[in-house]
Amino acid sequence: MAFGGDYNPEQWPAQVWPEDIALMREAGVTMATVGVFAWAHLEPRPGTYEFGWLDQVLDLLHGGGVDVDLATATASPPPWLAQLHPETLPVDVDGRTLWPGSRQAYCPSSAVFRERATALTEELATRYAGHPALALWHVGNEYACHTTCCWCDVSAAAFREWLADRYGDIEALNQAWGTSFWSQRYGDFDQVFPPRSTPTFGNPGKALDFRRFSSDEHLACYIAERDVLRRITPDVPVTTNFMAHSEVVDYWRWAREVDVVSNDHYLTADDPDGHQELAFSADVSRGLAGGRPWLLMEHSTSAVNWQPRNVAKRPGETVRNNLQHVARGSEGALFFQWRQSRAGAEKYHSALVPHAGTESRLWREVVDLGATLDRLSPVVGSTVRADVALIFDWESWWATEHVATPSIDVTYRDRALALHRALLAAGLTVDVVSPPTTGGQLAQYPLVLAPTLHLVSSSTASVLAEYVQAGGHLLVTYFSGIADEQDRVHLGGYPGAFRDLLGVRVQEFCPLRDGQTVRLLDQTGTDAGCSDVWTEDLHLTGADAVLTYADGPVPGCAALTRQARGAGVGWYLATRTDDTTTASILREVCAEAGVTAPYDVPAGVELVRRHSDDAAYVFAINHGSADATVQIAGTDLIGGSVIDAELRLAGGAVAVVAQAAAG
Ligand code: GLA
Repeated sequence: MAFGGDYNPEQWPAQVWPEDIALMREAGVTMATVGVFAWAHLEPRPGTYEFGWLDQVLDLLHGGGVDVDLATATASPPPWLAQLHPETLPVDVDGRTLWPGSRQAYCPSSAVFRERATALTEELATRYAGHPALALWHVGNEYACHTTCCWCDVSAAAFREWLADRYGDIEALNQAWGTSFWSQRYGDFDQVFPPRSTPTFGNPGKALDFRRFSSDEHLACYIAERDVLRRITPDVPVTTNFMAHSEVVDYWRWAREVDVVSNDHYLTADDPDGHQELAFSADVSRGLAGGRPWLLMEHSTSAVNWQPRNVAKRPGETVRNNLQHVARGSEGALFFQWRQSRAGAEKYHSALVPHAGTESRLWREVVDLGATLDRLSPVVGSTVRADVALIFDWESWWATEHVATPSIDVTYRDRALALHRALLAAGLTVDVVSPPTTGGQLAQYPLVLAPTLHLVSSSTASVLAEYVQAGGHLLVTYFSGIADEQDRVHLGGYPGAFRDLLGVRVQEFCPLRDGQTVRLLDQTGTDAGCSDVWTEDLHLTGADAVLTYADGPVPGCAALTRQARGAGVGWYLATRTDDTTTASILREVCAEAGVTAPYDVPAGVELVRRHSDDAAYVFAINHGSADATVQIAGTDLIGGSVIDAELRLAGGAVAVVAQAAAG
């Protein structure tokens, strides 16, 4: 199990480094990510490299038994780059230059930036190839985190090239973007600008392609560095840290390009149930890793400085957060950062060694955590067993949240999180998957969820239809299947791509007013819950109504439908149900699909299984304050106790129950 985090020794005098190593030993640190923001120290002047300090740091770490995840240090160019080449600076949608002085101030399409970044990468790789501490390469850092897109002239030229590649001729682009509307018809690729600020709504097709382009440009930066590393150190795996369910790039495209998926996650401190969103992030990470183990590259021991309120974690919270990631497939838990900065923009961000030093609760927890992770080493290599699949799609996200959509209240992640949350509470584990494009991809899952899958290609629509025909159960939620991959509406009634499969035809969207709610009734006329944001004028063309609206714009219309198709069932949920209603709908859908939780889960307890060939590991995490019991036998790897039949879990406690055979 990897344990440790970002180590930024350049922020400290060299006299501190031996103490760092001694403390790392005390805490059981096994991995340090070094040099993420060290470009200015490694290349203080253009072409002049200073590696002496890094040689010393790597040797010290190796002497302390700590593996190094060595950064290419290209996440933030040094000030001299902007001075020499101001054209490398990013420009925002309004044409304002984003100046150096924070981080990530570069345009991803800049050839100058890429050239300088790959030159540094080449120097680093050549120097440290064969260094015994080098275990992993860490390219850049959270690509696109701040400068998701750049609207400068360099980007404009690159965008035109990207479009010419994608469409071949300008008429194809005109068709795809529907440029006959508002006199936008282009005669040449040279007439196309990035979607800079416009008098009113910009073209949605263009906006979508610009997101795709921007994701690809950042990816090209990553690939340029990765290829240098692969050439010089072919045996060292390469990663870059993702921000799993953030909208910035299409991580399905990125995931194929890394040797190890690594992810950063920061708890939303203001959310008392933040562990639910954490679980989703971890499941997305595992999905990106194709079900294989992945690595939590960053999280925090306590306060996160960039949130509005730096809410500190309560005792025991870090270990619970930590184990949630491990339960869901991470091979360890790394943090930002090792030693809390004395100065700079993140000096109030927590770290493994806090400002208070080692005489602190936080440090004691860090030491305990190292010991806990060490005890979990048998888990390494095992994989997570999930019950249900959920389709997640960045392109649908971008299209759903374009400004010119039917309701500002319809946001992409909302339903994915809601469905995931309900299944988490029911003790079920979810695999997050990409929109399927080839048959059989989903065959292992009895139930597939498609929340707000707005853009659906004909191949995805037919794979999902085959899935249901062959016995699968599919639950689709509103604003799905509306448009094709170019964001052009499937005509003939919504949800065009799924009309036949679901046996419904929607004539008109009926979004609700701000704060308006509607009541739902089951088929006996009994109250069956509540929803908001969205309703539809839905007509049944084969499906049965399961729930209908009692009031709102379309009383009597179906809100939840069910259609048997071949050996399977297609469900359609046309409104935004509240959490209680969502949970009860999922109970019914799961029961019919034959999905049952492997254990009875007390409220507030999270249970996840990892399996290897000869063992099962059940992670039990009590997020509540009340004691709980789970009927399970085995040996608790953390506490060491043998559990005959019943695991007692105090409020806030964790256990990892090892069983000899799959349980
Ligand atoms: C991100 C970055 C780190 C640091 C942390 C703070 O994850 O990768 O460099 O800024 O945020 O939470």
